[in-house]
Amino acid sequence: MQQTLEQLIEACYSLTGEGNCAEYIPLLAEVNPKQLAIAIITHDHQVYQAGDYQALFTLQSISKIFALALAVMDQGEAKVFDRVGMEPTGDPFNSIYKMEIFSYEKPLNPMINAGAMVVTSMIKGRTAQEKVERLLALLREMTGNPKIDMVEEVYQSEMEHANRNRALAYYLKELGLIEDVEATLEAYIRQCAIQVTCEDMARMGLCLARYGVTDRGTPLIPTAISKMLKTFMVTCGMYNSSGEFAIKVGIPAKSGVSGGILAAVPNRMGIGVFGPALDRKGNSVAGVKLLEELSKRFDLSIF
Ligand code: DON
Repeated sequence: MQQTLEQLIEACYSLTGEGNCAEYIPLLAEVNPKQLAIAIITHDHQVYQAGDYQALFTLQSISKIFALALAVMDQGEAKVFDRVGMEPTGDPFNSIYKMEIFSYEKPLNPMINAGAMVVTSMIKGRTAQEKVERLLALLREMTGNPKIDMVEEVYQSEMEHANRNRALAYYLKELGLIEDVEATLEAYIRQCAIQVTCEDMARMGLCLARYGVTDRGTPLIPTAISKMLKTFMVTCGMYNSSGEFAIKVGIPAKSGVSGGILAAVPNRMGIGVFGPALDRKGNSVAGVKLLEELSKRFDLSIF
């Protein structure tokens, strides 16, 4: 496995020149796009890493999976899905328009920004900081890494340019789906700025692959909820590339505009990939290819 990962990194590396770092968040635009890394942790606790695996990056949209886990654990499925749907959109992650043209007035799913903001607003906690602390506690427990934290500078950088998300949040308030625009925006953008390594993500992926039980044997997320999270990853995790990704890779996965992709192969392994050069839909160009080749090589498709 180790040798294969090194070969795949080498084979996919040239693709890092084919995309661009997210530009609408100034601090992300400054990241070196020529990086590619992978970490895999298997069901039997083997850790494999290759490429620039020591790189630190922020979760961005990958945080949406765990925010959803927490909101459903806090409020129950019925309450959460009263305010957000379960259907893929086929639209970009920050799109607003289907909320207006559909007859039911709620975001179509929890993986687009509008849906994720509704979900985050439902996490228990009196303040934005309290909600994010609870999410951090979950992720620290999941990975066994107490150092996982939020990067204030990335939060500030995105907050200063959050016009689209602020517009979405006002729209959600008008629909009665959230109460406090600024508090919701703060919690959501803070959760996006949680910093990890590929190994942290692999451990999070492994927890999902093990139906919510950490690799140290602690049950953290109920089985039914962890199944739901993986299903959302398949149907909406790669945004409007989810269909193609399901066909070519066939692994539940979630991407973020930092270039991270978290993947979970049920009962087999957790995978963390990082490659900050993105395609036009906001997914890591080299990262997607790496996962495609890996899936073929080890027959990882769940379908
Ligand atoms: O809200 C945003 O736009 C970012 N904080 C996160 C978006 C994101 O990661 C979409 N991913 N592909």
